Amino acid sequence: MAEERDFKCMRCGAVLKLPYTKGVMEERRCPKCGSNSIRLIKDKDKAPNNETKYMIKEYPKKVILKGGEQVVLRPLVKNDKQKLIDFFSRIPLEDRMFLKEDVTDENVIESWIKNLDYNRVIPIIAETEDEKIIGDATLHIRTFGWRRHVGEIRIVTDREFRRQHLGFLLAKEIFHQALSLKLEKVLAEMMENQIAAINVFKALGFVKEAVLKNHVMDLNGNKHSLIIMTQNVASLWEKISDIIEEGYRDMSGA
Ligand SMILES: CC(C)(COP(=O)(O)OP(=O)(O)OC[C@H]1O[C@@H](n2cnc3c(N)ncnc32)[C@H](O)[C@@H]1OP(=O)(O)O)[C@@H](O)C(=O)NCCC(=O)NCCS
Repeated sequence: MAEERDFKCMRCGAVLKLPYTKGVMEERRCPKCGSNSIRLIKDKDKAPNNETKYMIKEYPKKVILKGGEQVVLRPLVKNDKQKLIDFFSRIPLEDRMFLKEDVTDENVIESWIKNLDYNRVIPIIAETEDEKIIGDATLHIRTFGWRRHVGEIRIVTDREFRRQHLGFLLAKEIFHQALSLKLEKVLAEMMENQIAAINVFKALGFVKEAVLKNHVMDLNGNKHSLIIMTQNVASLWEKISDIIEEGYRDMSGA
């Protein structure tokens, strides 16, 4: 039986009361902006005081890139599957070659969407006015075990929007998340020939902590050394908020 539940449009930020029937997949659209990027506010999205938790409350955020483009930053939701497939299909082979997974395989994206769990992986995407995804950053966390104080960051941006500080802006969001989760250290892994990535993380104050020789294999089967760069979360937050303070505007209304 349908009941009324709270939803949030992750595109425009509207909180909506909509009919919901457990176990029934329904296509919902925001009556305010028309987007289908809508998320049910579940009980687990709420803190003990019944307030919505950070991930839902703070987004969407609007930012302006160096080139003047206005972009929305928000968490990925289940309805974004096709947009994410389209985004990764635009990433050229020379970049995909060195990513950890084959992002052009729809099964890979399907499994990310199916297993979407903000307690394990926090995915923040950047979207243009016409709802095209142009960047994706993820924070991978473990809630138990000896690495529970460490998060791993991965970032990919659309070629058309590179060198406009989109990578920085996404990194800032990821660190915001890392701070709110009280993580102490973040790391990024890349092959030795991912020069742009090495420079981005260097610019953010990451240092090379380890090099594992011939540790990873690209899509062509060639082996490369894996570089592990790390950064202390609290000191990084100070650094990047200085760099990108300008052009950053929060439209969450929170
Ligand atoms: C790495 C990547 C995310 C950077 O995205 P971006 O949006 O271009 O990054 P930004 O514009 O925020 O760059 C920030 C800074 O990093 C450095 N940088 C970025 N790209 C660079 C490049 N190609 N060469 C040298 N320095 C670079 C610069 O210092 C830049 O600041 P500046 O433009 O003011 O000089 C993007 O190149 C990418 O998606 N690469 C393929 C995937 C990948 O390798 N991901 C990293 C694995 S975790």
